[in-house]
Amino acid sequence: MPPSTSQKILFSGMQPTGELHIGNYLGALKNWVALQHEYECFFTIVDYHAMTIEYDPKDMPERVKNLILTYLSTGLDPEKCHIFIQSHIPEHTELAWIFNTITPLGELERMTQFKDKSDQHRNNINAGLLTYPVLMAADILLYKTIGVPVGEDQTQHVELSRIVARKFNKLFGKTFPEPKVMLTPTPRIMSLAEPEKKMSKSRGEKHYIGLFEDPDTIRKKIMSAVTDSSAGAKKMPAGVENLFTILTACGAETSLVANLMEHYNEKTLQYKDLKSAVADTVIAMVEPIQTKRKNLEQNPGYVTEVIMNGTETARAIAQQTIKEVKQKCGLL
Ligand code: TRP
Repeated sequence: MPPSTSQKILFSGMQPTGELHIGNYLGALKNWVALQHEYECFFTIVDYHAMTIEYDPKDMPERVKNLILTYLSTGLDPEKCHIFIQSHIPEHTELAWIFNTITPLGELERMTQFKDKSDQHRNNINAGLLTYPVLMAADILLYKTIGVPVGEDQTQHVELSRIVARKFNKLFGKTFPEPKVMLTPTPRIMSLAEPEKKMSKSRGEKHYIGLFEDPDTIRKKIMSAVTDSSAGAKKMPAGVENLFTILTACGAETSLVANLMEHYNEKTLQYKDLKSAVADTVIAMVEPIQTKRKNLEQNPGYVTEVIMNGTETARAIAQQTIKEVKQKCGLL
């Protein structure tokens, strides 16, 4: 049964780009898991968006499957939320076309992600890279979403979906709510090796902690994290601050954090003790997720069923909205 339109709907998605790191988990997924209990939630795998960067078609099915398994193993519960793949619902691209015709070009050209990606992929500056946020607005508005839980870097895109909603409503009559961005309470997780920069896989192995990395590797990476990049400074070094952030965000007991902080303030803290507490905490957080994933891998039928159910519910709403939109635009 599709949810009634009076329910508060949230929508979010991720690109199937490969294994997530703990920054991705703490910055988005963990928040989704909490929100699914309070709202009607749609979580998608945005494979159409992933096509804007050069890729090997052979790898795509595996990338998508991996992300579904990640969603489920971190605690998204198909009884509580709807999980589906963007390209399975053609209404996303249909609405994106309609939105293309009302989105000012200037709004797209000033998007920071477009500028960054065009710099990074100079030999593949395709139109999709520019209209990426229009498809994202379609994803969001198709479900008459009121809130979009994402990381900070997506704020500008959610803002664009508000502009598009407003413009559509003005031109064709009130149809869409203006969705609000819902940022995660967790502070940003920084790189282990360059703690002034955001944790990211593209910087290299020693910079991130993979959600599905084996515990020994995780411990080794944390034990060699940079702590004293700004040695001698009065302020807490960025690397140490990041370790404390990770410790708290991954659910360490407050008494443990307070104790380590006290030692830091008294200048008696041995960084290896802090690191080993962080390693214990991170490993305790990822272990049940990793176990759940192993179990899910044994049960591919279940994963297919989850996607089928999610698609069915989502599509019913998508078709309803597209019908309304086409009527309002004079196409039906
Ligand atoms: N652009 C988002 C990202 O890279 C992914 C995305 C696509 C998305 N469509 C969305 C997120 C709709 C929220 C809502 O993270």
